[in-house]
Amino acid sequence: MSREIFNPEQLANEYDEQSPAAIIKLALKSFENIAISFSGAEDVVLVDIATKINPDVMVFSLDTGRLHAETYRFIEQVREHYNIEIDVLSPDAKSVQDLVRTKGLYSFYKDGHKECCSIRKVIPLRRHLAGLDAWVTGQRKDQSPDTRNAVPVVEKDAAFSSTDKNFYKFNPLANWTSAQVWEYIRSNDVPFNALHEQGFSSIGCEPCTRPVLPNQHEREGRWWWEESTQKECGLHVADQKK
Ligand code: ADX
Ligand code: SF4
Repeated sequence: MSREIFNPEQLANEYDEQSPAAIIKLALKSFENIAISFSGAEDVVLVDIATKINPDVMVFSLDTGRLHAETYRFIEQVREHYNIEIDVLSPDAKSVQDLVRTKGLYSFYKDGHKECCSIRKVIPLRRHLAGLDAWVTGQRKDQSPDTRNAVPVVEKDAAFSSTDKNFYKFNPLANWTSAQVWEYIRSNDVPFNALHEQGFSSIGCEPCTRPVLPNQHEREGRWWWEESTQKECGLHVADQKK
């Protein structure tokens, strides 16, 4: 599909009730220069589905330098299991060094996670996306009633589009519940991060993620010292405005 006739609103309506596999097929058919963003959590489902469609699909992970050891091992396990290359993106060394020198290694507990997330996640992501036309994420509506309840299956990415280039984002799992994701993982023998066996529902960086209790919402384990409406790190900023 040529970029000129790509209409995200129309496709979002058309594909809203379609399966994640159908949405990923649409994504890979519409854009050659597209990559899956894999956080090392249950979004491994995207990798499983996409590699069945295109074994050479591009995948990247943002290595903040603060992930759990289990997550690093899992990213490696996924690389080997699916026999794929994964672009593991590092933040700018000087920016990290400046932040840590002036504010220490845990500044986010004192003045919020935005600054650290910007340096370790958002800026490296922006740099990587600049070389692409679209990306695929594992965002789901049920991950956060406060910030993700309107996530469409495909959208123009307002955060990363520029005046001279429209940039697109596919969210194939938007309408799946956590239960559906886990049903898929179990029935397809998909490998998963060992942290899920230790009570972690949502997985981010080690200092900013903790396990949740039974019936506690998964997002409560992320940046738990902050308000629920603030629990976005900037990767999906535009979604909060909906
Ligand atoms: S976050 O914005 O709060 O950190 P979350 O952990 O819910 O995001 O993940 C939602 C989706 O964002 C993931 O499925 C993935 O597509 C993308 N994402 C989040 N963190 C990373 C990461 N470290 N590397 C690559 N993609 C990520
Ligand atoms: Fe920094 Fe925490 Fe954001 Fe990771 S989640 S980049 S450690 S503030």
